[in-house]
Amino acid sequence: MDASLPPGLLDALAARLGPRGVSADPADLVPLSTDWRGLFRGRAALLLRPASTEDCAEAVRLCAEAGLAIVPQGGNTSMVGGAVPDASGRQAILSLVRMNRIRALDPLDMTMVAEAGVVLKTAQEAAASAGCLFPLSLGAEGSATIGGVISTNAGGNTTIRYGTARDLLLGLEVVLADGSVIHGLRRLRKDNTGYALRHLFAGAEGTLGIVTAAVLRLFPAPRSEATAFAAVPDEAAALALFRRFREADEGALRAFEYMSGEGVGLVLRHIPGTALPLAAPPGHACLVDLATSRRDADLPAFLEATLAEALAAGEVTDAAIAASAAQRAAMWRLREEHSEAQKREGASVKNDVSVPVSAVPDLIRRAREALSALVPGSRPVAFGHIGDGNIHLNLVQPEGADPAAFLARSEEIMGAVNAIVRDLGGSFSAEHGIGRLKGAMLAEWRGGAELAAMRAIKAALDPKGVLNPGVLLPRGDSAGACC
Ligand code: FAD
Ligand code: MLT
Ligand code: ZN
Repeated sequence: MDASLPPGLLDALAARLGPRGVSADPADLVPLSTDWRGLFRGRAALLLRPASTEDCAEAVRLCAEAGLAIVPQGGNTSMVGGAVPDASGRQAILSLVRMNRIRALDPLDMTMVAEAGVVLKTAQEAAASAGCLFPLSLGAEGSATIGGVISTNAGGNTTIRYGTARDLLLGLEVVLADGSVIHGLRRLRKDNTGYALRHLFAGAEGTLGIVTAAVLRLFPAPRSEATAFAAVPDEAAALALFRRFREADEGALRAFEYMSGEGVGLVLRHIPGTALPLAAPPGHACLVDLATSRRDADLPAFLEATLAEALAAGEVTDAAIAASAAQRAAMWRLREEHSEAQKREGASVKNDVSVPVSAVPDLIRRAREALSALVPGSRPVAFGHIGDGNIHLNLVQPEGADPAAFLARSEEIMGAVNAIVRDLGGSFSAEHGIGRLKGAMLAEWRGGAELAAMRAIKAALDPKGVLNPGVLLPRGDSAGACC
């Protein structure tokens, strides 16, 4: 047991949560104290695993009373170190993994009530088994949880059609920093009864409350799907192709993703079982994904005809259309394995940025030039959700370079991209949030009245700074007994 734990706290927590609900064993604590990229290595005082909302609330109350800070954690897939404790040894991880029940699913209301620890993929499968669709989809969906995607307001691949996690949220159950509970699991489409508190917790990264369950919107399951992998001559052509599909049938477009040739090359090199469906490696590629619940739709024919028009217009140089579910999945792997392939290639600095959609080609071109000049031999890998104007402008270390020396230049690298993003009227964090990585950027970009309002909200809901101190708001902003 950690000597710095307030006396009596461990016993009180164990009495409430039971033996599976509390651990001070380093074998449990250490793996959960490091983020998946290995960038943030914290030290936790305790691991708490409540199995119910009541237990979660009581655990928070006990910790708050004892002055022990809490770091909520779901699948620990955060890109910005938001789900791991700092190195003080004075923060407890509160994992939601045992709260993993789908409490209800209603195909008439088109809603699902899921606990925070339900894995995203499990939620998708539960919806599908009832003939519905839960559309949120991202590379980490096999590990990320409902509580995590809400708390980061995750975006992902289907945002162009269904919005971010916030847009899929009808109701929320939240444990506040003093252990009280907001019972907001209302399945209502319309509910203008004061402040929409659920939207405050979406994207709050565990700094305002602990999400324990949510009412999520469902949609009709698709009856027809069609997917293509297309080589395009440049970024401007990628955007022109997106526009072509949107104008032809916006309702059919489920996802439209851009990949640079560098990124596709890394996936083919590092991820076993991946293969290029085109004759030659593309300089730039797009994944076009269509889906509809209409009975009369012939999406494969529409996809083929629209690609033929694009080919004639010079927006596409080669394309493959998936002829089976297996081929569709193989095309999606070329996109979804980008993060893992970059990790296997060595250290990389991530820039998850957004600009107005029309500025994307400019952004990619200018950032690539700036980054290549800044770190000679490094590999800029641009990819992502081009239809949202959200591009991941990741920089992979030069081959054979020292990873630590490369990562030591992270701020400089992010600064170079951010300067261009600012010039184009964009945002330094499109979907990954702030976490422990970008607090200083938040202060710089969102200072003045905007930051003051955020501080006031934090102070009102968590005056003692119990919840995730050091995350989102820069250090010193969430002053309180626990920080
Ligand atoms: P965690 O990582 O555990 O936590 C994330 C944050 O939320 C932390 O601040 C944590 O304290 C807080 N939190 C977690 N659970 C709760 C809770 N119940 N209540 C309150 N706070 C909580 N993100 C995108 O938006 N789009 C993408 O396309 C995308 N692709 C990804 C691909 C890969 C391969 C990976 C590894 C990550 C990707 N992400 C993406 C990052 C994304 O933020 C996470 O995948 C996901 O949203 C986090 O879910 P999680 O359960 O892992 O949360
Ligand atoms: C993705 O969309 O795959 C992730 O958000 C990107 C990343 O690894 O930066
Ligand atoms: Zn993304």
